[in-house]
Amino acid sequence: MPGALCATIALCHDRSMSASVTISTLGTMTPEPALVSEVTSLLGGLVASGAALGWVEPPARSEIERLLRELTAETAVGDASTVVGRDGQRLIGFGCWRRYQRPTHRPHADIGYVAVAADHQGRGVGRHLLDCLIHEARGSWVEQLTLDSRSDNNAALALWRSRGFVEYGRLADFVALGERRYDKTLLVLDLRTG
Ligand SMILES: CC(C)(COP(=O)(O)OP(=O)(O)OC[C@H]1O[C@@H](n2cnc3c(N)ncnc32)[C@H](O)[C@@H]1OP(=O)(O)O)[C@@H](O)C(=O)NCCC(=O)NCCS
Repeated sequence: MPGALCATIALCHDRSMSASVTISTLGTMTPEPALVSEVTSLLGGLVASGAALGWVEPPARSEIERLLRELTAETAVGDASTVVGRDGQRLIGFGCWRRYQRPTHRPHADIGYVAVAADHQGRGVGRHLLDCLIHEARGSWVEQLTLDSRSDNNAALALWRSRGFVEYGRLADFVALGERRYDKTLLVLDLRTG
């Protein structure tokens, strides 16, 4: 099944970019090699610049290929959704949610890997990616959407809170980057309440 268009965002204030960015879901087809390369490059570039996406080093292409294959298979049975943002042909945004596998947690899902290319940040792309993920989760009868962020990731935390996510916990010194330790903030959006 091919993906569906979620939104088109006008980027009229910058002549160096296309007039619009499209936000769409990935379907259930086997990920093309070109897509694997694009996602590897997007996430890897951000990690190399210090983004708090869960990796210490940029992820290998094989890891991203495995992730995309898993997401595709889970999407086919309503257990995941993946969204991408494109400026013209170029991939500039990514994000996904996955349903919890533990039988008692099955009504709920966890958001991960929300990322926007550095030169497109601060233009509303992240918010549209998140809105599309929330919309897809509602459509799959997800009850509670969780996510977590490194506690110094102010941009991400502001984005989550702007869409109603509330903090339900914090793990002190949980995120390890070499000798450094950072708190991890846990957030949830209850989709049953509006
Ligand atoms: C977090 C991230 C996805 C946000 O995407 P974005 O496209 O830059 O965000 P948007 O332009 O859609 O901004 C939406 C809201 O997020 C918040 N926000 C975004 N950038 C911010 C910043 N630098 N400082 C504070 N708040 C910020 C604001 O609330 C903003 O709303 P506003 O413009 O009305 O003030 C992006 O910064 C990113 O890819 N970071 C690196 C990867 C990462 O950390 N991902 C999250 C892992 S938990």
